[in-house]
Amino acid sequence: MKVGFLQFCPQRGQVKENLRTIIGLIDGQECDLWVLPELCNTGYLFSDPDEAWDLAEEIPSGSTTEKLAEISVRNRSAIVAGIAERDEDQLYNSSILVTPKGDIFRYRKLHLFGYEKEVFSPGDREPEVFNIGRAMVGMMICFDWYFPETARILMLKGAQIICHPSNLVLPYCQKSMPTRCIENRVFAITANRIGSEVVGNRELVFTGGSLIVDPLGEVLAKASEDSEEFKIVDIVPKISSDKKLTRMNELRSDRRVELYGELLRNGDSDGSE
Ligand code: ACM
Repeated sequence: MKVGFLQFCPQRGQVKENLRTIIGLIDGQECDLWVLPELCNTGYLFSDPDEAWDLAEEIPSGSTTEKLAEISVRNRSAIVAGIAERDEDQLYNSSILVTPKGDIFRYRKLHLFGYEKEVFSPGDREPEVFNIGRAMVGMMICFDWYFPETARILMLKGAQIICHPSNLVLPYCQKSMPTRCIENRVFAITANRIGSEVVGNRELVFTGGSLIVDPLGEVLAKASEDSEEFKIVDIVPKISSDKKLTRMNELRSDRRVELYGELLRNGDSDGSE
């Protein structure tokens, strides 16, 4: 199975132009599963929630979803893309998964980063895993990586590949994804963006370095920090279904869930008495 990421610099507020860039780069490529960055059609910073509202779209009826669904069918490629979603009176930082069979799935980012809390509602649904024929696929978005529970729950629900649209500004994720993959025995595709954005007194520089990692933590492909590029690699998703670590250790059944109760509490203690 061929899987790839697209790393580029979305232009803030330019949905049509960003779609043109995406399509220009991926249309006609042989790739079974593409991952595009977070908020890849709108850019990351909004001047206020109203601007985000105007740029967001409903899923599945919005123009980005419709266009990528069409590209997916035409190229026989599944596509994961981060977009701003509008649903009734809420805005979500979401990703879609469109498939050549015509399925349209969605994930809403659970862990909002910094200023996103002023614009978006946090995801209100558990992460799910979707069958795209060649693989079982889960999604998480950018800062979700910092919460290992996200990748864990996707693995426990059967994900073989974690698709990870991102707009990373901190430098740690690219170092951490091999660990997320080792501890869950899954593939992960992080599609980050490049460039910078300034709105008012906010300036963000995005760190590129998109990467594809295998279940043993090997980095199969890595992008530069600052150029537009895509990379496609061949993988065998089913190797991630082997959770046997040694003759006597299995990743899922060795877990001591009866002693993990604290994971289900809010954890607001700093450890002091
Ligand atoms: C991020 O979650 N976009 C840093």
